[in-house]
Amino acid sequence: MKIYHYESIPSTNAEAKKMILEGVRDGVLLAEHQSAGRGRLGRSFFSENGIFMSIILSPKRIPFDPEFLTSAMAAAVCRAIEAKGFKAGIKWVNDIYLEGKKVCGILSEAVSMGGDILSYVVGIGINVGEVEFPDNIKEIVAFLPLNEDEKEALFFCVLDEIEHVLVENKKSVLSYLKQKSVVLGKEIRFFGVQNGEGLALDLDENGGLIIQTTEKENIILTGGEISVRAK
Ligand code: BTN
Repeated sequence: MKIYHYESIPSTNAEAKKMILEGVRDGVLLAEHQSAGRGRLGRSFFSENGIFMSIILSPKRIPFDPEFLTSAMAAAVCRAIEAKGFKAGIKWVNDIYLEGKKVCGILSEAVSMGGDILSYVVGIGINVGEVEFPDNIKEIVAFLPLNEDEKEALFFCVLDEIEHVLVENKKSVLSYLKQKSVVLGKEIRFFGVQNGEGLALDLDENGGLIIQTTEKENIILTGGEISVRAK
């Protein structure tokens, strides 16, 4: 896989989408810093110090329902972080947590033309190295204390784990996701696509979150946002 390395760039996801429209169908963009990092739901993503990468994935390389893409990528990143000795967990659907704080976010996007998906972009932002986080996030985010060599090794480990998850039996990915979930068995709030509260019961075969609502109805969340309710 070709690696495009940038010292600083507005957003590797935005650049990857531009490259796809110019005909690129494979590769990974890596930036040391982003000046306009983007998160889910149009939010900004603080990108001062870390691994900020976007993988361009042709639909041909994705062996499962694209709905499962973000979950599969979360499994790959969590495994890579764990392989470096950290105890990480997955907060449905796109965040990796370390001791109750977010250390990584994932943003999957599709680039289409005339109704056809040309390619997917999976953006991964991992906080690495000590940095002054802005006041509005400093209580809820974490960073991995790695030196430059360890950071580079983690980047390559993430790439390896992504290659692995793309050929792995889906059942084993799902079983890992369930094992590492910091959400299953907890009372949660959900908002965005649907709004309410309930108990996170399980994941369905595409990584959707099965919730028993407070009205005792089972629903499956496939998008939107959740938060774990404080006891
Ligand atoms: C989220 O937490 O909502 C997802 C954050 C995704 C951030 C990554 S960093 C690399 C890539 N480029 C971006 O602009 N965003 C993603």
